[in-house]
Amino acid sequence: MPIDWNEEDRVFHLHNSKISYLLQIVHGKYPAHLYWGKRVMTLQPGSILSFKGRAFSPTTEPNDKNFSLDTLPQEYPAFGNGDFRTPAYQIRAPDGSTITEFVYDSHEIFQGKRPLEGLPSAYVEDDTEADSLVITMVDSMLGVGMNLHYTIYRELDVITRSVSFEHLGCQAVEIYKCMSMSVDFHQSDWDWLHLHGTWGRERHIERQPLHHGIQTISSARGSSSHQHNPFIALLSKDANEEYGGVFGCTLMYSGNFQASIEVDPFQTSRLSVGINPFDFTWLLKPGETFQTPEALMVYSADGLGGMSRTYHKLLRTRVCRGVYRDKTRPILINNWEATYFNFNEKKLKSIADAGKELGVELFVLDDGWFGQRDNDKSSLGDWYENKKKLPNGLKGLADYLHTKGMQFGLWVEPEMVSPDSDLYRRHPDWCLHVPGRNRTLSRNQLVLDLSRDEVCDYLIETLTRVFRSAPISYVKWDMNRNMTEVGSAALPPERQKETAHRYMLGLYRILEKLTARFPGILFESCSGGGGRFDPGMLYYMPQTWTSDDTDAVERLKIQYGTSIVYPAITMGANVSDVPNHQVGRTTPLLMRCHVAMAANLGFELNIDKLSSDDKKVIMTEINEYHQIKDLVGFGDQFRLLSPFDGMDTAWMYVAPNQEHAVVFYYKILATPNPPFFRLKLRGLNPLEKYKVNKGKKRYFGDELMQMGLTLPLIKKDYTSAIFQIEAVKK
Ligand code: DGJ
Repeated sequence: MPIDWNEEDRVFHLHNSKISYLLQIVHGKYPAHLYWGKRVMTLQPGSILSFKGRAFSPTTEPNDKNFSLDTLPQEYPAFGNGDFRTPAYQIRAPDGSTITEFVYDSHEIFQGKRPLEGLPSAYVEDDTEADSLVITMVDSMLGVGMNLHYTIYRELDVITRSVSFEHLGCQAVEIYKCMSMSVDFHQSDWDWLHLHGTWGRERHIERQPLHHGIQTISSARGSSSHQHNPFIALLSKDANEEYGGVFGCTLMYSGNFQASIEVDPFQTSRLSVGINPFDFTWLLKPGETFQTPEALMVYSADGLGGMSRTYHKLLRTRVCRGVYRDKTRPILINNWEATYFNFNEKKLKSIADAGKELGVELFVLDDGWFGQRDNDKSSLGDWYENKKKLPNGLKGLADYLHTKGMQFGLWVEPEMVSPDSDLYRRHPDWCLHVPGRNRTLSRNQLVLDLSRDEVCDYLIETLTRVFRSAPISYVKWDMNRNMTEVGSAALPPERQKETAHRYMLGLYRILEKLTARFPGILFESCSGGGGRFDPGMLYYMPQTWTSDDTDAVERLKIQYGTSIVYPAITMGANVSDVPNHQVGRTTPLLMRCHVAMAANLGFELNIDKLSSDDKKVIMTEINEYHQIKDLVGFGDQFRLLSPFDGMDTAWMYVAPNQEHAVVFYYKILATPNPPFFRLKLRGLNPLEKYKVNKGKKRYFGDELMQMGLTLPLIKKDYTSAIFQIEAVKK
């Protein structure tokens, strides 16, 4: 059984063949953290904890002066009765105090994994895939129960955690803070790594040594954000792409989050991840339950690369859902950078026709097709087609594309409303706002109040009408601002600080309904590019528009950083015109294609105005993409050279049976008189013989990995190459 309960030592051991997670109920009350990491066999795990009375650390147990919550490594710590470190939760009692004493009550172990009520969560397709543990703690004075939920997957080195609070008493309490997980590690000589950025520059990698005190990343923007991805990792000092211990934790949530690590004087590091407690409170009334989002925790003994590959498999196969989960995605052409708001049916058809000729499969109509929207100043909320631009409507355009053998995709931004819109004129109180205060605009728009059921219902019905109005195969769901004046006209004063979380619950309800109603639509989430690239959105939409920055050089960093957690099949990547609209850089079309081909290939340019040479490049690359797209989409990714370290970037994708692989190499700026360079591959079968790009030479996997693939001397900036590696059986 992958979850053992040692009654005598009161120890739980969650394990599969590669990882172990151990916790113990100490003094019959407190769940203490013993270990998380590489699989261990244990005889007496109950004796691993050491206790020592420390000055200024209070003792809660009168008969055990060495015991203190302040030094106990804990699973879900409180504040106020002995532990002075960062608490995992805080609850305000009816008497105004915030002292709680949850103690162990009971537990349940079962096969499988239960979904989370109203929230996205990792799933199983069969109960034998995972095992779960629920530890129930009770504060009898408060009359509240707290369930600590754990699941361990058998074939993935993943543990999921979440917490639910159940009010069993008779007076309402307020939850001020409730993280999804907290772990007290027994060491702190680690680095921590996270993904930071901004619009156009998402998910850059930052790695730093841990220091004493608290280090935190968070979002209070109402979305998971461009600025910090809801992901954090702890790495042993020697950990690199291939070696060393790495603990990753990501939150399956698309709203405000916090991830922090506190290092105490005894070198304990407390990692906690959950909803951002800043500006959050939840009123829990008798009979009600509050469920936190789920944390997805990965341990890898094989460095960052090993952690990424586990996340990739988890997200691809047990987070993403729907018919597209196991399918490669159509090659698309999007009109945004070609036309912005300035288009008519003729221009769209000309882009689609040119795309079709080159092998593009799906035409996506971006912003500007509805209401009176000729710029970003109006019409969000008015989801009916603009007949001036589309005299034959969406249906007319979609039918035209279908006769050409192309699919039709549509952009929407349903969560927003323009003050200059019929919707806003009808329902001025349907946006997030605080009465009497300014309604701060961003990109000239306001955010609809999805904490309100009627707003969500309206959106479900409106979008259902739009999606049924034409044969639509793909929807790009955008969200182009962050939240301000976060208040709801429908909530009483004591519930105002629930608005941001209720918004997320409303959004998830809408997405659940629409994705179930339209199972054939491929949904892509977007928030001004990658402002909401998180596992929560991926549960509903199996891909995200990675960034508005489509410059090939910038994209190397963005896609490399994104791949730390997210697989290539979840990333939208379009080839755009030069000079690039974001950074003004001119890179060769071949390199732009090669960067986009390392994810879901698309185009976003005046494809109808290309020279015949450029058209040839695109046709050749689309042809090559068809040969490699399964590998990119479903292979194991190995990062070989980092764009954060120099002028070279390389990564590769290897088929699970190791018979095929594809290597992408990019040189940003060339060096005069350069040295010869061998690129060391990874993930191949050392004993297998391979050929490269259908060449005559044969190489053992070992050779390619240890001695490397010799690259030609590169004399030009922005050079790129793709190598297809194929096992040779004879
Ligand atoms: C932001 C997106 O990221 C772009 O691709 C485009 O769809 C614009 N919004 C349209 O307003």
